[in-house]
Amino acid sequence: MAFVTGSGSGLGRAVGNRLVSDGWKVVGFDLHDDGPWELSFQGDVRDANAVSAALDTVNERLSTPIGVALCAGVFQPMVGPLHQLDFETWEKTISVNLMGAVTVAGCCLQRMAKGALVFVGSAVGKHPQAGASAYGVSKAGVSALSRSIAIEYAGRGIRSNVVSPGWMDTPMAQAITGDDRRRKRVEDRIPLGHIAAPEEVASIIAFLLSDNAAQVTGQDLTVDGGEGLGSFTSSDDVRRMWGWAAK
Ligand SMILES: NC(=O)c1ccc[n+]([C@@H]2O[C@H](COP(=O)([O-])OP(=O)(O)OC[C@H]3O[C@@H](n4cnc5c(N)ncnc54)[C@H](O)[C@@H]3O)[C@@H](O)[C@H]2O)c1
Repeated sequence: MAFVTGSGSGLGRAVGNRLVSDGWKVVGFDLHDDGPWELSFQGDVRDANAVSAALDTVNERLSTPIGVALCAGVFQPMVGPLHQLDFETWEKTISVNLMGAVTVAGCCLQRMAKGALVFVGSAVGKHPQAGASAYGVSKAGVSALSRSIAIEYAGRGIRSNVVSPGWMDTPMAQAITGDDRRRKRVEDRIPLGHIAAPEEVASIIAFLLSDNAAQVTGQDLTVDGGEGLGSFTSSDDVRRMWGWAAK
């Protein structure tokens, strides 16, 4: 059984669907989720009582989770640079993205005897993006949290990894993905030439939860179409180069 947070939208929904098609029983947890899962819970990842109550019900009705995908998250742009002290954005972002992950992972680890966790980081946690300092810090924190868990729980046979997407076609990135001109500018920076569909990231999370990744723990895998390679070669340049090569 897999416990998936953020299952009501975007990546979490794609992860749930992928895990179901791989033969998992999926339990969803989200502020708003009416997903087609074995069980669905509406709750806040920051609320340890709500997460614990959901996991106790899951244990009674199904089993203890052996897979946990922590996809719930928020992104809100900062009102300005750091000296403007936008504490509201800092508090919301750190509390949902980082403390929410601490809460869900902690409640699951209280119950799990074996299995795997996959956290969702972000390329922004590795390469800073202007206007997204709180978000980047929250995701870098998630990555450090996962590595700590990997060490602390290896003796129990529990693995912990992070998948860090670049741009993904979900409601969270709508401001970019829904606007043709902005989308083109972003896609031009991605060597593989397109913003990821959530399914392209979900398949990596499913792999890391599966026994095929039995020897992988403490890793943080970027899934960004090569954007973080930092090359000044645009995706158009890449296509042109292969046009030359084909001649
Ligand atoms: N979309 C991108 O470009 C992108 C890039 C890198 C990382 N991410 C990360 O991917 C993950 C999934 O995001 P998405 O793009 O699918 O966005 P999304 O907005 O489509 O989905 C996020 C889900 O998390 C849920 N959620 C938010 N706060 C919650 C809370 N306090 N408790 C419970 N559920 C809560 C929302 O209800 C929503 O269903 C997030 O962690 C996000 O930071 C997204």
